[in-house]
Amino acid sequence: MNFHAIRQAYIDFFAKKGHAILPAASLIPENDPTTLFTSSGMQPLIPYLLGAPHPQGTRLVDSQKCFRSQDIEEVGDNRHTTFFEMLGNWSLGGYFKEEQIHWVFELVTGVLGLDPARLYVTCFRGNEDFGIPRDEVSAKLWQKIFADKHIDAPIIDFSERDGMGNGHIFYYDETKNWWSRSGVPSAMPEGEPGGPDTEMFWDFGVHFHNKWAEESPVALVRAGRKKQKCHVNCDCGRFMEIGNSVFMEYVKNKDGFEKLKQHNVDFGGGLERLAAAIEDCQDIFRIDIFAPLIKHIENLSGKQYGADQNESRSFRMILDHARAATFLIADGATPSNKDQGYFTRRLLRRAVFHAQKLGIASRCCGDLAELIIDSYGGVYPQLKERKESILEAMNQEEIKFGKALKLGLKELDNLENVGGIEKVSDGLLKTINRVDGVKAFFIHQSFGIPLEMIQERLSARGLLVDEAEFNNQVEAEKKKHQDISRAGAEKKFKGGLADHSDMSIKYHTATHLLHAALRKVLGESVEQRGSNITPERLRFDFSFSRKMTPEEIKATEDLVNGSIKRNYSVSWQIMTVDEAKNKKAIGLFEEKYGEKVKVYTVGDTEQVAKADFSAPTFSREFCGGPHVEFTGVIGHFKILKEEACSAGIRRIKAIAT
Ligand code: ALA
Repeated sequence: MNFHAIRQAYIDFFAKKGHAILPAASLIPENDPTTLFTSSGMQPLIPYLLGAPHPQGTRLVDSQKCFRSQDIEEVGDNRHTTFFEMLGNWSLGGYFKEEQIHWVFELVTGVLGLDPARLYVTCFRGNEDFGIPRDEVSAKLWQKIFADKHIDAPIIDFSERDGMGNGHIFYYDETKNWWSRSGVPSAMPEGEPGGPDTEMFWDFGVHFHNKWAEESPVALVRAGRKKQKCHVNCDCGRFMEIGNSVFMEYVKNKDGFEKLKQHNVDFGGGLERLAAAIEDCQDIFRIDIFAPLIKHIENLSGKQYGADQNESRSFRMILDHARAATFLIADGATPSNKDQGYFTRRLLRRAVFHAQKLGIASRCCGDLAELIIDSYGGVYPQLKERKESILEAMNQEEIKFGKALKLGLKELDNLENVGGIEKVSDGLLKTINRVDGVKAFFIHQSFGIPLEMIQERLSARGLLVDEAEFNNQVEAEKKKHQDISRAGAEKKFKGGLADHSDMSIKYHTATHLLHAALRKVLGESVEQRGSNITPERLRFDFSFSRKMTPEEIKATEDLVNGSIKRNYSVSWQIMTVDEAKNKKAIGLFEEKYGEKVKVYTVGDTEQVAKADFSAPTFSREFCGGPHVEFTGVIGHFKILKEEACSAGIRRIKAIAT
């Protein structure tokens, strides 16, 4: 079964069990200023997990594109990627452990054909401090399921000292078997939902077992590892997690935890990892989806994937980064110096660096993007629709990087040897030649030159980067991002739903009016490329190739204000994607799996009845809501700024007073 067939089989399986198929949400969360990327399947569903009724019912299934920027540094081994697809199914207050565990088992063994004897599972041990009991219900359900397949599956309370023993089902603590967006229970902000989970692991084979113990003790110490027994959650490579069923039934409060008003199931399974398990190959870059890309890189470089460890690492960086960048650009994150675009830039520059390392002299990201679009275009039609602009953005970035590289390397060559002393062992010191880590970080940051490239260049002059200083800067940057999202998450959950303050809701409706007005003033080629709303202002990115004239800005404001004055009504309907398209709804959704979508219409009663698109700022858009009921409450709309955001994309900031 190939990659796309696995996705389809998963969706079909849950659709047959009464789940509504959701379209994948954009990688760039809409109307959520608190996080940069969609990084798990449940993220767009938070309000519904907390109790808001979902327009499509209580059983949902999808395959959600995810991007995890924090994993950039992990890419290079055989299992990490920044971009991946997470298969998801949800019960919103409906079925619970029994159905979920039976169904995922039926799916992976019956439909996807994995051998149940090579499937291991983990459950939550419980923690009295938080008043959350051990999840015996799940462990027993698993045991019975295995017994039905004539597999003896002892349940073991895992300890590092004893290892796996003869266990097949293991209890672990909250660091492994608890899921919330902020991690363990103690790290969760008030209002955040979470719950114990049960995870499935695929066993690649006992020959990987205790691999570390066979390494020399010196090698273990150098790698910072203890000699230890292999277990399902260790990373020796024997096991790989392929699916996680979260029983999301708790919410953090002032004093600890309370039950949510409904118990939910949130399942997430990495599609790439499932494909690797089905192929029984530990290297997820060996799954079919990457094969044409590997071949292309092999042709350009004359190198062979798998022949040399360092070169394979470069192959993987190129594969992951080119794929992630393709999807990010399609969702509006064109390479730039800020926000999401910054990550696209970083990905592409690292990909170029590794291509150069493999000896590829020509530009190659665009070629790879083309192969990716060919492969994924049937599932994500947006990729095909935006093909030209994706390729253009990639080529531009490669050209820009070439220029930045010239300047950056010059700065790098000017860095002086600040010297230093390194402790080799007790009583033994060595002098070293090194440059200031903060300055090296500044060059990395300003010119987008990857650290490895900086290291290579300096080593030619016999110099090192002070990595501790460099990493301090990296950590400080990371913390800045985390603080922003944590503060955001706290703010966000105050009201129970993702920032649904009155002002944000007004700005959300104003965004629809602005989008419609821009299409009237500038033409229908204008498409939304991003939206970010806070209670203080709206920000809207859209495709348009030049600066707007003052007259165009004025005309846009007038249209929006006109429709606010007319106090248009705002209404919504659920319809199929085809119906929505026939009704000329605009929007960002990927339609392939979206059987049904919610569509908001803004206009006066007569316009709405006649779907009169010639009327001023009549708007009809795919959207999850929420919106105001009448536009009159929005206030006076004013565009504060219209500026370039990245190549071919403009950004408007506006307020309503
Ligand atoms: N939300 C869970 C995860 O991301 C399923 O692993």
